[in-house]
Amino acid sequence: MVIKYSILLGAVVGSVSASVASTFTAPAAAPTDQSPFYVGTSNGTITNSPNVAGVVFDRFIQIWLENTDFMQARTNPSFQNLSAQGILLSSYYGVTHPSEPNYIASVGGDFFGLATDVLTSIPNNVSTIIDLLEAKNISWSTYQENMPTDGYAGYNYTNSDNYTYYARKHNPLAIYNSISQDTTRASRIRNFNDFAVDVGNNSLSQWIFVTPNLRNDAHDTTIEYVASWLDYWLVPLLQNPNFNTARTLILLTFDENETYTINNNVFSLLLGGVIPQNLRNTTDDTFYTHYSTLSTVQNNWGLGNLGRQDANKTLANVFALVADVTSYENNNLTTNSLPSLNITGTIPGALNPDAYVPYLAPTNSTGTGGGPTFFAPNVNMSLNASTAPAPVNLTALAASSSGKSGTRASVRVGIQTIVGAAFAAVIAGLLL
Ligand SMILES: *[C@@H]1O[C@H](CO)[C@@H](O)[C@H](O)[C@H]1NC(C)=O
Ligand SMILES: *[C@@H]1O[C@H](CO)[C@@H](O)[C@H](O)[C@H]1NC(C)=O
Ligand SMILES: *[C@@H]1O[C@H](CO)[C@@H](O)[C@H](O)[C@H]1NC(C)=O
Ligand SMILES: *[C@@H]1O[C@H](CO)[C@@H](O)[C@H](O)[C@H]1NC(C)=O
Ligand SMILES: *[C@@H]1O[C@H](CO)[C@@H](O)[C@H](O)[C@H]1NC(C)=O
Ligand SMILES: *[C@@H]1O[C@H](CO)[C@@H](O)[C@H](O)[C@H]1NC(C)=O
Ligand SMILES: *[C@@H]1O[C@H](CO)[C@@H](O)[C@H](O)[C@H]1NC(C)=O
Ligand SMILES: *[C@@H]1O[C@H](CO)[C@@H](O)[C@H](O)[C@H]1NC(C)=O
Ligand SMILES: *[C@@H]1O[C@H](CO)[C@@H](O)[C@H](O)[C@H]1NC(C)=O
Ligand SMILES: *[C@@H]1O[C@H](CO)[C@@H](O)[C@H](O)[C@H]1NC(C)=O
Ligand SMILES: *[C@@H]1O[C@H](CO)[C@@H](O)[C@H](O)[C@H]1NC(C)=O
Ligand SMILES: *[C@@H]1O[C@H](CO)[C@@H](O)[C@H](O)[C@H]1NC(C)=O
Repeated sequence: MVIKYSILLGAVVGSVSASVASTFTAPAAAPTDQSPFYVGTSNGTITNSPNVAGVVFDRFIQIWLENTDFMQARTNPSFQNLSAQGILLSSYYGVTHPSEPNYIASVGGDFFGLATDVLTSIPNNVSTIIDLLEAKNISWSTYQENMPTDGYAGYNYTNSDNYTYYARKHNPLAIYNSISQDTTRASRIRNFNDFAVDVGNNSLSQWIFVTPNLRNDAHDTTIEYVASWLDYWLVPLLQNPNFNTARTLILLTFDENETYTINNNVFSLLLGGVIPQNLRNTTDDTFYTHYSTLSTVQNNWGLGNLGRQDANKTLANVFALVADVTSYENNNLTTNSLPSLNITGTIPGALNPDAYVPYLAPTNSTGTGGGPTFFAPNVNMSLNASTAPAPVNLTALAASSSGKSGTRASVRVGIQTIVGAAFAAVIAGLLL
């Protein structure tokens, strides 16, 4: 069956003014088909380096959904069906609130104090999992639903039906300049038409980050809506050998719990051909966080580390599926002894204007993969955790100086612009 674009438009026009569409409409007959709904048509298949075998898996696909409490997903019939095929991670946690810092953390091993969804860019002296993968020639890509063109830099994208489906805050690789401002790397930030072509050509990369659009990830909708999208997209792909090989591990997770006043437990599920029959329809109660996606990948492929929270033994347990094979020793933290992962706004960092500390060099660490800490070539090694200046409240400084003088200067914390008199001098002093 081919769904014509006119039918598709007809289906969505009615929901233009409503913020929540009530029912999912399939954009095409199958997830392996391109669709005008996904905007830019693919310009060809991605090129990957030859397969690099990992200890347990050769492909890792993570799919991120949004803002849902654990039990809402746990009790949904579609999620229950998926759970029967995989391992439910009952003690998996987001690392803060709101969305964007969780996504940033998932590739860079830290969120640098960010407590908003602001348009920001992380300088290219900050390394990511991509540096570690490329050091071992492991191919990677990200697929962003409704991102119009490859490497698109805009804050969001509104389709011809006037609905904003794509948001950059959920596209972690686009936020790091070391990726988005490198033409070759940016071309690996791809849209869902590329996905259709790449899966059809059996050319998916080995490390893949998938972000559904703001409706299909539950951000603007309900868990039932997401379940319909999963039934359309993921369920058939699990049977497609170009997507799910015998050596594929899939993580279905949520960025954060909806309720800030409780710790940040999110529903997370491991799926894929790599899960042995005897572990399907089981639960793993080990404490994991989004940093575990980094430590598990590092452990599986013998990678280096980022010298950030990916190397923090408290926060970055390796998925037992892998740790049991590599004999990596996880901590045994249980629910009552977990760190607070719902803290937001008070953590110092380069992206916290209330407690600003410049981007620091990584800490030379022992990670889970046995490789060295990766230091970006242009990182200032003398600006590190032991030499870091005390946090500065830029917001307070701006407020206290704004009334005083006629000259106004603007200062950038990421791309957030804080305007205030005498401000540039303060920052210039800080950065010297
Ligand atoms: C769950 O799986 C069962 C058995 O395969 C099937 O009958 C049912 O329709 C599925 N439910 C959902 C919501 O996918
Ligand atoms: C493919 O190239 C065309 C022409 O430059 C462009 O309009 C389209 O957006 C590109 N597709 C993607 C997915 O970037
Ligand atoms: C999209 O981005 C623009 C800024 O470029 C912003 O003004 C607008 O609020 C954003 N819309 C949504 C739905 O995020
Ligand atoms: C989208 O918004 C524009 C400007 O408000 C309007 O002219 C156009 O008809 C709208 N399109 C749809 C499909 O509602
Ligand atoms: C975080 O959750 C704990 C319970 O796990 C609660 O006691 C605490 O108040 C929450 N913190 C915030 C900042 O909401
Ligand atoms: C949010 O996380 C807590 C654990 O911290 C979990 O028990 C709960 O199911 C989740 N949702 C709600 C509504 O509490
Ligand atoms: C999964 O396990 C539950 C009990 O935990 C059981 O009720 C259910 O039938 C199992 N499903 C499958 C498909 O084995
Ligand atoms: C590791 O994580 C724990 C729990 O969040 C935290 O208290 C500790 O400061 C972290 N260590 C480093 C070196 O950041
Ligand atoms: C966790 O528990 C296991 C089994 O009891 C034990 O072998 C291991 O040493 C413990 N790990 C730590 C870090 O204490
Ligand atoms: C990091 O530590 C390792 C092991 O101690 C050492 O060989 C390496 O030189 C250190 N790297 C830097 C940049 O200090
Ligand atoms: C990284 O780059 C930013 C922006 O240029 C700069 O503020 C920061 O001091 C640098 N940090 C390190 C450790 O090189
Ligand atoms: C920073 O200053 C602002 C404005 O005065 C204030 O509201 C905020 O509480 C301060 N934050 C911290 C962490 O001191």
